[in-house]
Amino acid sequence: MNTGLAAKAVIITGAGSGIGRASAQLFAAEGALVAVADVRLHTAQQTVDLLAADGHRAIAIEVDVADPHQVQAMVERTVAEFGRLDVLFNNAATVRVGDAIDLAIDDWDVVWRTNVSSVFFGAKYAVPHMQPGSSIISTASLSGLGADQGLISYNATKAAVINLTRTMAVDFGPRGIRVNCICPGVTMTPAMKGYMADERLRDLILAATPSARLGQPEDIGRAAVWLASDQASFVNGQPIVVDGGLTIQNGFSLMQQARSLDGDR
Ligand SMILES: NC(=O)c1ccc[n+]([C@@H]2O[C@H](COP(=O)([O-])OP(=O)(O)OC[C@H]3O[C@@H](n4cnc5c(N)ncnc54)[C@H](O)[C@@H]3O)[C@@H](O)[C@H]2O)c1
Repeated sequence: MNTGLAAKAVIITGAGSGIGRASAQLFAAEGALVAVADVRLHTAQQTVDLLAADGHRAIAIEVDVADPHQVQAMVERTVAEFGRLDVLFNNAATVRVGDAIDLAIDDWDVVWRTNVSSVFFGAKYAVPHMQPGSSIISTASLSGLGADQGLISYNATKAAVINLTRTMAVDFGPRGIRVNCICPGVTMTPAMKGYMADERLRDLILAATPSARLGQPEDIGRAAVWLASDQASFVNGQPIVVDGGLTIQNGFSLMQQARSLDGDR
């Protein structure tokens, strides 16, 4: 596949770990120049070291995406270093657990600034540097399409990312800039590995996933590369679900899965 990403400059936030790190490796493999941005600079630097070991050009940037001044500085540093900006991948996010009664108001605010305001800040400072053919991608979630018990702020923010994506696609389409987002299913990043160590949970998720495997960070990274590529030049304003089919089944199908799980025990 000719992605057209060679020598293009890409910022990936949250690229010190998980989906962001895998994406950095996949974009770099396409010849892209990658700004590896993360609130934990040492992990961003580890990602850069991995890329450099494979002969790729990349820089590490410390950024808290919840802070507009730091987001502006991230964009300016990237443009100063690479002379251009073609792709902004808003991937960093945070989670706080709690329902409307339990969740502290400060936690609600942190999740909104980190997961939603960050996407607004990114566009505000990145788009003026972008040429036609550029693109913005964000990592939303299945949690933006449906409900998860006790994740009120995370779910609301991921739903907001999906409609922010549509709105920005409308706003920036005439400039030749596409805006899309990805809704990953259960993906084996460091955060998720803890949950999946529980065999019962793992079996439940596997049984409910038609593709019968767990997602890997590279599954999401490949979707991001495709969305940013020339191959997706007519894909705009879309939430792309990458979940092995986890969300396509109805109740009857899930009952059948549960029966066969019981049979296995
Ligand atoms: N793993 C999954 O199953 C899954 C499912 C759906 C959506 N997602 C989404 O995928 C994205 C990446 O998650 P992951 O699973 O790779 O997690 P991860 O914890 O492996 O990586 C997240 C990275 O973001 C960084 N980060 C956190 N807050 C930040 C901030 N304020 N500024 C800059 N960087 C910050 C962290 O330091 C970390 O390196 C997130 O948007 C998450 O909501 C993950």
